[in-house]
Amino acid sequence: MNLAEALQWRYAVKRMNGNTIPPGKLHRILDAIRMAPSSSGLQPFEVFVISNRELKNKIQPIAFNQPQIGQASHVLVFAIWDAYTEQRINDYFLLNNQERNIDDTLTDVTRKRIIKNFSQQTEQEHVQHASRQSAIALGFGLVAAAVEKVDSTPMEGFHAAQLDELLGFQEKHLKSDCILALGYRDEENDWALNLKKVRRPRQALFTFIE
Ligand SMILES: Cc1cc2nc3c(=O)[nH]c(=O)nc-3n(C[C@H](O)[C@H](O)[C@H](O)COP(=O)(O)O)c2cc1C
Repeated sequence: MNLAEALQWRYAVKRMNGNTIPPGKLHRILDAIRMAPSSSGLQPFEVFVISNRELKNKIQPIAFNQPQIGQASHVLVFAIWDAYTEQRINDYFLLNNQERNIDDTLTDVTRKRIIKNFSQQTEQEHVQHASRQSAIALGFGLVAAAVEKVDSTPMEGFHAAQLDELLGFQEKHLKSDCILALGYRDEENDWALNLKKVRRPRQALFTFIE
C-alpha cells in the first residue's frame, strides 16, 4: 500500500477483534509519534502505552463505554504538560545542547525568550498550546498505524478528569488530552467498516493563491 491507499484504508474503527499488534509494528508507530514536530521542539506531552487488560477495562467506562478501548491491543493515552514550567523548558535545552554537543550559552537567548513568553500566558493558554502539539503527534501515529496496516481510533470521547484520576496524572503534572486505540478491525461486527469516506470537497478546503 502506498500512502494514499493507506489513508483510504484507514478509518476510525468502532469494533476491534482483540488481536495483539506485533512489537515491531507497535514500536514503529511509537517512533513516528516521537518524530512528530512540535513548537520549539519541546514535545510537551507523554504517551502512556496501555496493554494491561485490567486497566483497559477500567478506562472503557470513562470513555463512554466505547468498545474499542477494551478490544484494542494497545490504548495510547496522550497526556500533555499541565504547564510550561521553567524547569521543563530548561530540561529540553539541556537535552538539545547535549545531543548537538553545543555550549548552553549558544541557546540562552532563545531559552530565556521561550520561558518569558510562556510566563506571560495563562494556564489555559499553556494547555491549549500543548494540546495542539499532542494532536500533531496523534496524527503522525494515525498515519504510521495505517502504513503498518494496524487499525486505530483517535478518541476524545472520554471524561478527562476521571482519566487523570485513574492514571494519577495530577501528581505527574499532566492532563489527559486524547486517546489512540490501536488494534485490528472486527470485520464481522464493525458497522463503520464499509462506510464511504466523507471529506469536504477539495475546493472547500484548499484555496490556491498563485
Ligand atoms: C481528535 C479526534 C477525536 C475523535 N474522537 C472519537 C471518539 O471518541 N470515538 C470515535 O469512535 N471516533 C472518534 N473520532 C473519529 C472521527 O469521528 C473520524 O475520524 C471522522 O468521523 C472521520 O472518519 P474516518 O476517520 O473514519 O475517516 C475522533 C477523531 C479525532 C481526530
